[in-house]
Amino acid sequence: MNTKPFNHNFLKACRGEEHSHTPVWYMRQAGRYQPEYRKIREKYSLFEITHRPEVCAEVTMLPVKQLDVDAAILFADIMTPIPSMGINVEIKSSIGPVIDNPIACKEDVEKLKPLNPAEDIPYILDTIKLLREQLSVPLIGFAGAPFTLASYLIEGGPSRNYYKTKAFMHSNPEAWHLLMDKLGEMTITYLQAQIQAGAQAVQIFDSWVGTLNAQDYATFVAPIMQRILAKLAEENVPKIMFGVGAGHLLQEWNKLPLDVIGLDWRTSIKAARQQGITKTVQGNLDPGLLLADWPVLEKKTKAILEQGMENPGFIFNLGHGVYPQVKVETLQRLTAFVHEYSSRIKRS
Ligand code: CP3
Repeated sequence: MNTKPFNHNFLKACRGEEHSHTPVWYMRQAGRYQPEYRKIREKYSLFEITHRPEVCAEVTMLPVKQLDVDAAILFADIMTPIPSMGINVEIKSSIGPVIDNPIACKEDVEKLKPLNPAEDIPYILDTIKLLREQLSVPLIGFAGAPFTLASYLIEGGPSRNYYKTKAFMHSNPEAWHLLMDKLGEMTITYLQAQIQAGAQAVQIFDSWVGTLNAQDYATFVAPIMQRILAKLAEENVPKIMFGVGAGHLLQEWNKLPLDVIGLDWRTSIKAARQQGITKTVQGNLDPGLLLADWPVLEKKTKAILEQGMENPGFIFNLGHGVYPQVKVETLQRLTAFVHEYSSRIKRS
C-alpha cells in the first residue's frame, strides 16, 4: 500500500485550477526506451502483458517510479477491446496493429459485436484497481477514437494516405455511420468501465484524424465524438482529446464537451490560444528533440513552459509518443527541469 501524499497537480491543471508546479507526463511513457520494459517483453507479448494485471500494473508504474511524472497512463493499446468485437488483431513489432480480414462492406460492420467489459476485458479493470492501490499520482484511462480505430479496421494496418478509409466513408456513408455508431458505443462502454474501476481522467486518442479536412471531420466524425463526450459528461473526470497533425481541427474540438486539448508540435500553444482555445492545453514538445543535445532541449522546453504557463490550464507533454531510441536519463532530466523551472516561475 502506498503512503506518499497524493499529487493533485495534473487533475487541477485539467480543470484550470491553480497548482504548485506544471504537471508532466509523456505519451508512450511505458515502452521500449526502458531496459526494464524490454526485459519484460522478452518474456511476454504486448497482449500477454495486458492480460496479466500484476505485470501490466508493474509496466504502468515503471515511468512513475523512474521519471517522477505527475500522472500514470494505463498500459494497454487502442486495439485492446477490438478482438472482443469479433476482429482478430495482431500487434507487429515496429509496424503496429495488423488485421487479417479488414472491413470492406456494410455486412462486415453489421457483424461487429458490442463490448461487455466485465466479461471481455476483466483484466483491464483488475489492473486499474490494482494500480489505484499503489499510485500516488492520478491514473489516466484511454481509448482510441472511432475514426482512428476505423482506419486500422478498414486499411488492415497502419497507413500513409488512408485512401481505403476515405473511399469507404465517402462512397458508403450509411455503413460508415453504422461503423462510427458501433465503435462509439464501444468507446463509451469501455471508458465508463475504466472510470468505474478507478481511472481518474480519460484520454481519447484520435491519432490519425488529422488526415481529414475540417468539413469532413464535421460531417463524418464530430457527431459521434459529440455523443461519446456528452455521455461521458455524466462521469466527473476530465476528458482529454489528442491527435497528430490536427491543428486545423482545433475549432471543431473546442466545440466538443472536452476539458483538455492535446497539441502536437506543429501548432504552438500561443497559436492555439490565439485561435480562441480556452480549454486546458497539453503538449507539445517535438519528441525528436529528446534526441538533441540538452541545451537545445532546455531552450525549447522553456519556450513551451513560458507560453503554456500564461494560463493555469497547462500540462507539459510531448507532441506524440516517446521513441524507443530515447535515453531514460533524458526524460528524468526533462521532468525535473519542468518541475523546477515551473515552480520558480510560479513563485516569482
Ligand atoms: O505508456 C503509454 O503511453 C501507454 C500505453 C499505450 C500503448 N499504445 C502501448 C504500446 C498507449 C496509450 C497506446 C496507444 C496507441 N496505440 C495509439 C495512440 C497513440 C499514438 O501513438 O498516436 C496508437 C495509434 C496505437 C497503435 C499502435 N500500437 C502503434 C502505432 C504501435 C507501435 C508499433 C511499434 O512497434 O512501433 C503499437 C504497439 C505498441 N503499443 C507498443 C506499445 C508500448 C510498442 C512496443 C511493443 O511492441 O512492445
